[in-house]
Amino acid sequence: MPSFTTDNELFTPDDKLELLFNPELIPASVKAELPSDLHIRPLARTDYHRAHIRILSVLTSAPDPGLSGYQSTFDAQRTCANTYYTLVIVNKATDQIVGVGCVFIERKFLRNLGKVGHIEDIAVSKDMQGKKLGLRVIQALTGISESLGCYKTILNCSDDNIPFYKKCGYEKKENEMAKYN
Ligand code: ACO
Repeated sequence: MPSFTTDNELFTPDDKLELLFNPELIPASVKAELPSDLHIRPLARTDYHRAHIRILSVLTSAPDPGLSGYQSTFDAQRTCANTYYTLVIVNKATDQIVGVGCVFIERKFLRNLGKVGHIEDIAVSKDMQGKKLGLRVIQALTGISESLGCYKTILNCSDDNIPFYKKCGYEKKENEMAKYN
């Protein structure tokens, strides 16, 4: 088993990247559970070049927005202070993303100006599924949501994914309604 360090030629360490949020928000317990050849960090402005869009296409339609479109959405998210927390798992050997997920924080007027974390857009590349990476993404996002003071963390999913989210500690509650244009 090769051992990977941050000196790996291809791997870009966090301090060389423009990150979406403070990496210290990612729970140390989740980092400790990852295999040494993988790294979990906030989304970076250059992650267009690390297969972010390709990974999302395992979830749903994710057409290529082009670099400038990608970066304008990154900038828009970063401008919304304390709201968007998208993180990625990177394969250190290739510097390519193998898993992604987001929690965005909704500020409410009810529950004493409470906050809710909404988990969105979870995807693990096909060749890396079944290795607990989805679990680590959910644990990290839930930890961020809780550390930011959210009174609950919620998500929508298909029936097929209910067993996965149950393994992550979530339970089925109420129903989803949708109206697409
Ligand atoms: N049915 C039953 N159990 C499952 C399923 C499933 N569909 N998926 C995972 N599990 C179980 C695993 O067996 C494992 O159980 P164990 O602890 O007993 O071994 C546990 O859940 C954790 O599984 P992981 O290995 O962490 O799952 P993985 O890394 O493959 O990620 C994911 C799961 C994210 C659903 C992945 O398969 C994927 O990317 N699928 C396609 C995109 C998708 O559906 N994303 C979720 C959309 S919902 C949303 O975004 C809010």
